[in-house]
Amino acid sequence: MSVDHYLPKPRLLLTRKLPPPVEQRAAQDYQVTLNHDDQPIGATDWLARSHAADALLCTPADKLDAAVIAQLATSVRIIATFSVGHEHIDVAAATARGIAVTNTPDVLTDATADIAMLLLLGAARRAAEGDALMRQRAWTGWAPTQMLGTHLCGKTLGIVGFGRIGQAVARRAIAFGLQVHYLSRNWRDLASVETHYHESETTFWPACQFISLHLPLTPATRHYLNAARIARLPRGAIVINTARGDIVDDDALIDALTTGHLGAAGLDVYTGEPNFRPEYARLKNTFLLPHLGSATHETRCAMGFRALDNLDQFFADGIPQDLIPAHKA
Ligand code: DGY
Repeated sequence: MSVDHYLPKPRLLLTRKLPPPVEQRAAQDYQVTLNHDDQPIGATDWLARSHAADALLCTPADKLDAAVIAQLATSVRIIATFSVGHEHIDVAAATARGIAVTNTPDVLTDATADIAMLLLLGAARRAAEGDALMRQRAWTGWAPTQMLGTHLCGKTLGIVGFGRIGQAVARRAIAFGLQVHYLSRNWRDLASVETHYHESETTFWPACQFISLHLPLTPATRHYLNAARIARLPRGAIVINTARGDIVDDDALIDALTTGHLGAAGLDVYTGEPNFRPEYARLKNTFLLPHLGSATHETRCAMGFRALDNLDQFFADGIPQDLIPAHKA
């Protein structure tokens, strides 16, 4: 769907630089204000930047909390975030001001599941140490006991949060010979894929040699992976996080990686991004990426197009397909 060209085009502020095909489509259908230098909008600049905009297309790096929402120009009617996660937006505050909020589910499922597998392999097979050795030109040659990692095949992977991305990780993991366990309120049928459903944490955590986290960040999931849950994992377990940094209690994770209770961690997301706890960079048993879950050309274009689809639907007087209800925020 594209917006009606006989009406004045709605005014759209892109808060960050987006892939060129997305900016081109936005410019075709909207009166667009681009962010050419790609600098984040400062906490106090929102009123000036949103002045005369009908819509914002923002990113997870924009913190649109209640204070920022209160500063937005009264012309703003919709915020479309270029992400599936929407914890950076106070949806209740936006809704209370009559501003609709949408996100971009589905289109980043495969890319994020691929990154979870990359973290799983990277953490298990000591990829960061191996890469560092090569870059330092410190490799002295093949040796039978050098840099031994952990085998994936035949091990168990526990998935917490068995939604779209969790299920896509399950499919990939099974192809690597892992047995998939998942913790969920409900059993899910993954056609032709064998999984082990756990209703109870008592049986789940001790069964998992690898853990991959796929929960949304909400007040209830903040610090979900804490010392008590980590203690229930078998010694040497490997933790993967592609969801949000805040769902992990960093103190507990760093402690378990330091004592050796956990064998390794693969992390793509961090509390307080772009900052992160320096211990993660000092530990040898971590494999770290800078929030690359959805970072493929194809996926970032698909996310932009999905955000624009939502805007088009809104300005055509429809209900955007990915409208976030205030109560789900
Ligand atoms: C999202 O969409 O929430 C991702 O974290 C962006 O990569």
